[in-house]
Amino acid sequence: MSERTFVMVKPDGVQRGLIGEIISRFETRGLKLAGAKFMQIDEELAHEHYGEHEDKPFFDDLVEFITAGPVMAMVWEGQDATRQVRRMMGETDPADSAPGTIRGDFGLDLGRNVIHGSDNEDEGANEREIALFFDEDELVDYERIDAEWLYE
Ligand code: RTP
Ligand code: MG
Repeated sequence: MSERTFVMVKPDGVQRGLIGEIISRFETRGLKLAGAKFMQIDEELAHEHYGEHEDKPFFDDLVEFITAGPVMAMVWEGQDATRQVRRMMGETDPADSAPGTIRGDFGLDLGRNVIHGSDNEDEGANEREIALFFDEDELVDYERIDAEWLYE
């Protein structure tokens, strides 16, 4: 089933020049870009976005990191998009991520893991995160010209 998922190149990925490489992977996989916003996350948005981790010992470092520089926030659309994006990202810790995944190819450290994607095991995370970062009119509805060759 086609669905939309929230994805973000984190400040380390932006600073390391990985935006293009990461977008390219999702594009060539066949996912469709539905929205994109280059922006800086403020403290308030960081607290909302990572609210589930508020009580964790790493929370302050996480907020400091995610607000430390610009991010590339995006919405990608396609069949099983949330789970497929998570699989392409790899594990939370780049050290445990297989080569070929984004974190496995571009990261080494848990606290610098390059990319965020909505958790496919967290019911409603998609819609919640998309709404947190995008207004409805910032998302675009269109057909990819190759859609009939991507899906049976
Ligand atoms: P994210 O939300 O950033 O996409 O990462 P994730 O779903 O793979 O992992 P999550 O459990 O949501 O953790 C959010 C971020 O917190 C940092 N973290 N540090 N020190 C620690 O034990 C620890 N655990 C998680 C990671 O940078 C992770 O991306
Ligand atoms: Mg998470």
